[in-house]
Amino acid sequence: MAFILAVSGSAIGLGNIWKFPYITGQNGGGAFVIVYLCCVFLIGLPIMISEILIGRRGRRNPVTTMGLLGEEEGGHKYWQLVGVMGIFAGFIILSFYSVIAGWSLSYILRAASGAFTGGDATQIGGVFTAITGVWWRSAAWHTLFMLMTVLVVARGVQRGLEQAVRILMPALFLLLIVLLGYSAVSGQFAAGFDYMFRADFSALSGNSVLIALGHSFFTLSVGICAVMAYGAYLPQSTSITGTASTVVIADTVVSLVAGLVIFPIVFANGLAPDAGPGLIFRTLPLAFGNMPAGAFFGALFFILLSFAAWTSAIGLIEPAVAWAVERRGLTRATAAAVIGLFVWAFGFATVLSFNELAHVRFLRGTIFDNIDYLASNILLPLGGLLITIFAGWVICRNASADELDVGTGLLYRAWRFLTRYVAPVGVILIFLHAIGVFAP
Ligand code: TRP
Repeated sequence: MAFILAVSGSAIGLGNIWKFPYITGQNGGGAFVIVYLCCVFLIGLPIMISEILIGRRGRRNPVTTMGLLGEEEGGHKYWQLVGVMGIFAGFIILSFYSVIAGWSLSYILRAASGAFTGGDATQIGGVFTAITGVWWRSAAWHTLFMLMTVLVVARGVQRGLEQAVRILMPALFLLLIVLLGYSAVSGQFAAGFDYMFRADFSALSGNSVLIALGHSFFTLSVGICAVMAYGAYLPQSTSITGTASTVVIADTVVSLVAGLVIFPIVFANGLAPDAGPGLIFRTLPLAFGNMPAGAFFGALFFILLSFAAWTSAIGLIEPAVAWAVERRGLTRATAAAVIGLFVWAFGFATVLSFNELAHVRFLRGTIFDNIDYLASNILLPLGGLLITIFAGWVICRNASADELDVGTGLLYRAWRFLTRYVAPVGVILIFLHAIGVFAP
């Protein structure tokens, strides 16, 4: 149970409530959602199982584990580079994650003080730009969020947070259901539903498919050996497949509900679904501003969202800290402070992407868009690809069958088939498709 809580705490976060709706809106809805769901279940789930399996077998930090198992299974100790790459990707993701989480923190006060009450789309859009458009405001909240994260990691009090996850995650989900009720009554629910589930594959680009794949990794926290780090603490008697399936289903339900809350509000207020990273900050306050006790529900919602982001942020920095402690001999406090400081500084690239440097655009868009693209859509799938190859081809059949504990029947064969063939081939094809190899 503690393990499910820890991994769900890492998986459920801004990825579900902030990122999923906005990238769905940028990539045209329905077809994107279907591809995302296929990626989650056919590629993300087997990789999550693989990560837990490897972590439990190695029982060390991911870098050491990959190196040791690599050698033990007759492969190479250079497999540890996958762990190193994971630490690097986690570092980059946290740098922008913390900025967005900072916005969520700032919205707690705005909601509580009634800034959204009776507001329309223009006024609420103004609140968003007043925070994100002023670099020092955005930076201040980013700083606060990084401090909160480093403090918890430095003192190693994650245990207490896991207990809080038990109450606060269901609370967040309940609040999403309340919002769903609001959207169903006051939003254009049919239009929102249609947008999310009516698929027109002809409009889906190769790049959108890669974004769907990258997001399936992002939302499940796989691809950077973070789940592997948790797996090291999993008792031998616990079912890996059962645990992973539970987390994956919970994570997916939260994302779909978030989408069903947001798009009806988008259409009812004449907003654009492709508004980008500000989407939830421009839509949800409309609901809070126009429902009974909205200031209370709004503040509560952003408290819970910030909490969900916090538990995820800890999962992003923990691999780096564990590595610095075990391999570099730093104390936990020093490791957390030093790594946190670097992440914080790098976060300014994202802070400035929404104000002073908003005009700087190249490749994928703003500086933030490029950082996100590199980490989410290149590093995560690459890490995931290497992890499935490792679990499916390097680790011998006996070892994985022994670790998975589902016998060698259909369930095991299904996992092995997905891990050896479907996931790696899928990732490679999607990469090739995105760079236009199959373009007519
Ligand atoms: N899954 C988290 C979210 O959806 C983000 C996250 C936490 C993450 N740990 C991770 C993403 C590790 C990739 C890898 O908000």
